Amino acid sequence: KETKLWGGRFEESVTDAVERFTESISYDKQLYKHDIMGSRAHASMLAHQGLMSDSDRDSILQGLDKIEKQIEAGKFVWRTDREDVHMNIEAALTDLIGEPAKKLHTARSRNDQVLTDFRLWCRDAIDAILSFIKRLQVSLVTLAEKNEGLIVPGYTHMQRAQPVLLQHLLLAYVEQLERDAGRLLDCRVRLNFCPLGACALAGTGLPIDRFMTSKALGFTAPLRNSIDAVSDRDFVLEFLSANSIIAIHLSRIGEEWVMWASEEFGFLTPSDSVSTGSSIMPQKKNPDPMELVRGKSARVVGDLVSLLVLCKGLPHAYNRDLQEDKEPVFDSVKTIIGMLEVSAEFAQNITFNQERIKKALPAGHLDATTLADYLVKKASHYPWLAHCFYLPGGVPFRTSHDIVGRAVGCCVSKNCQLQDLSLDELRSINPVFEKDVYEFLGVENSIKKFCSYGSTGAECVASQLEYWISKLNID
Ligand code: ARG
Repeated sequence: KETKLWGGRFEESVTDAVERFTESISYDKQLYKHDIMGSRAHASMLAHQGLMSDSDRDSILQGLDKIEKQIEAGKFVWRTDREDVHMNIEAALTDLIGEPAKKLHTARSRNDQVLTDFRLWCRDAIDAILSFIKRLQVSLVTLAEKNEGLIVPGYTHMQRAQPVLLQHLLLAYVEQLERDAGRLLDCRVRLNFCPLGACALAGTGLPIDRFMTSKALGFTAPLRNSIDAVSDRDFVLEFLSANSIIAIHLSRIGEEWVMWASEEFGFLTPSDSVSTGSSIMPQKKNPDPMELVRGKSARVVGDLVSLLVLCKGLPHAYNRDLQEDKEPVFDSVKTIIGMLEVSAEFAQNITFNQERIKKALPAGHLDATTLADYLVKKASHYPWLAHCFYLPGGVPFRTSHDIVGRAVGCCVSKNCQLQDLSLDELRSINPVFEKDVYEFLGVENSIKKFCSYGSTGAECVASQLEYWISKLNID
């Protein structure tokens, strides 16, 4: 057996079970690129500070280049007995270039090294997720553009509530995704500080320049406190929290689309390219991708919870428990990217069933609130009415709510819609109704009345759409 890089004081080698149990190479090899990046910056700094010769630095840099190429060509042999990505690369470098490699770990510990790698990895992962968020936003805005003017029932408590433009709903998803992106960007700013040179926990007496490595690696600055630098995992907690919120958002879109694809709703049809079938029921065409988007949100939340529990109560500074921080992060990132990608593809491959939706619109008195608003506005044009309600300017909303509630009651007993009630019937409930009431009834009329900022009326929605088209650079 090869002597471990830390093997000096040991008289026995570790058992196979311990070796298998403590290794992290099986998954942390994903960090290789960032590990090599960190080592390059570190070696250059050590040479600059006179802690190694320029020729040692050069052979280290050349060796690292070779190792990176081998890894990328799939020719590098990852060894479990070399424990983790850091020691695999360092030991391979020693095999390759000999003595100079032994200088690389000067003023560095795996504790600050792993965090340097991990922060760099997370920074790239955030950038990748941001581009997938944008891709989904573009797909949603494009879908909205294709469905101009389509009115759908809006629901609260899953009961018919008010009419909304489909575009309005799709742009609501886009807004949520924009905040998701904002959370990731915030996290990226806080994450982008450099732990390298904090060493095991106490820093070092060697004359290193942490500002130099920090700058070379694109960090804002070195972390101020070496104990904090090797202890902190809140950057990943924050990252996975942001991912969890994305996952929750996507799960809600998933749920909506799965429901809308059902026979009962029939509001949308996914194309065959984003559907799957049943092994027993020949007729089935299922919206599985969005069901899995809903389902995989559980993993992403689970990853966050794993990390939260992992960090709870851990004393400062490094504890080996912290090796367990990587898999949840890798899983969360992989899952979130898959969810975003598939949601975008789904959005590009669904058709809204205009006829079916149109047929569904008359049910549920979606125009009732518009009618209540009519009364509020109506009376304000007729000051004498204000007098009979003992209030200046308009039927008080509570009163109009009650009046319209009775009108709805009337519809329920006659099994009809508000617009089917005659003016006499309406006036028998309250004389405030006039002939122009019919301009407010029916979903088409009703939706035209929504005109205040952020509402679902055509003009408000058109200006939202315009905003997103220019913000997302869609042509
Ligand atoms: N593989 C370790 C991890 O991921 C690297 C740091 C190990 N440090 C140590 N002192 N054993 O946490």
